[in-house]
Amino acid sequence: MEDYTKKNMNNKQIPQMEPWFGSEEKEALNQYMDEGGWLTEFKRTAEFEKRIAEYTGAKHCIVVNNGTISLTLMAMAAGIKAGDEVIIPNFTMIATPNSIKMFGAVPVFVDVEIETLCMDLEAARNAITPKTKALFFVNANGRSPKNGIEAYQKLCEEHDLLFLEDAAQSLGSFYPDGRHQGTVGLAGSFSFSAPKVISTGQGGAVITNDDEMATRLRKLKDFGRSGGGNDVHDSIGYNFKFTEMQAVIGNEQMKKLGWRVERKKDILKLYKEQLVGVNEVQFFEQDLSCTTPWFIDAFVEDRENLQAYLKDKQIGTRIMYPPINKQEAYQIPGEHPVSELVGQKGLWLPSAAQLTDEQIIFICLNIKSFYEKHY
Ligand SMILES: Cc1ncc(COP(=O)(O)O)c(C=O)c1O
Repeated sequence: MEDYTKKNMNNKQIPQMEPWFGSEEKEALNQYMDEGGWLTEFKRTAEFEKRIAEYTGAKHCIVVNNGTISLTLMAMAAGIKAGDEVIIPNFTMIATPNSIKMFGAVPVFVDVEIETLCMDLEAARNAITPKTKALFFVNANGRSPKNGIEAYQKLCEEHDLLFLEDAAQSLGSFYPDGRHQGTVGLAGSFSFSAPKVISTGQGGAVITNDDEMATRLRKLKDFGRSGGGNDVHDSIGYNFKFTEMQAVIGNEQMKKLGWRVERKKDILKLYKEQLVGVNEVQFFEQDLSCTTPWFIDAFVEDRENLQAYLKDKQIGTRIMYPPINKQEAYQIPGEHPVSELVGQKGLWLPSAAQLTDEQIIFICLNIKSFYEKHY
């Protein structure tokens, strides 16, 4: 894995291309199978939780089967109930609002800031009503908000709201003061679906420094059992457990996290270098000294034609999340100009850690040639 033989554009050494699931995962899985273990959660899951807790600096980590359920359980454990309003950015993956809709809480959508696509602070302030119970902050692509995360925390304190972080896209991203994203609020949630910075196929985790939250979360994911392995239930819980097999993969993936973080940063730097002066492509404010882009995102002009042009060259792109309030699933009136703009101009460019510098340069050459031909 650590084959630092290749050099990037800045003559900096970078590792060789690495498959998403490589020989390390295969070997670890074989060893697990040889041991005859078919357990849901055991030592390897505990090891995976410990690795995430240590990496993020959180006191507790509770892994669950995906990053939507981790949000649901985080909200339930925090005390959010049916009918409570939760402030959520209008630009996020739809799992964020769906996770609380599932048990009857009410998402209230607010716009995002144009520089980072994180929740707009003033919009959040204006959305507070007597029914507001919590604010779900989403670190868009691992970015920090321009006013600092403390401003949101303060807003929550002033209005007696729960402050929770949807850090699904944030493993490897820290706030400028060094705290890992997801560790500032009462709890933070991660996703390990493919393709996140690390993946267990499906998977999610909640991190928290609060002992009571951790206990409630462990019970919620395990039928409300009063203790591991017994059938005594002092509360209602469900089954959102992880599996040892996923944990085997997760532990190997965690060993690659440092590598991937560096590679993702290099990829964004290279895109920016290559597309300098191309005014039709605008990147967001991403502080690479502490944050890691999960995907390469940008506002682009003439998005549909650019996509078609790149597709013709076998280059896949994906349009960014449309404004949630306008999705058929929600249809909530309200104007949120920045998330609308994302719906018109937001594009994810090829972002996999396995991309070589040559491939990225090829993609950028094609983006440039599209705009030269059409503008
Ligand atoms: C911000 C955000 N929240 C929640 C999720 C849901 O995670 P999962 O796909 O693991 O359920 C995602 C997935 O991409 C996400 O980006």
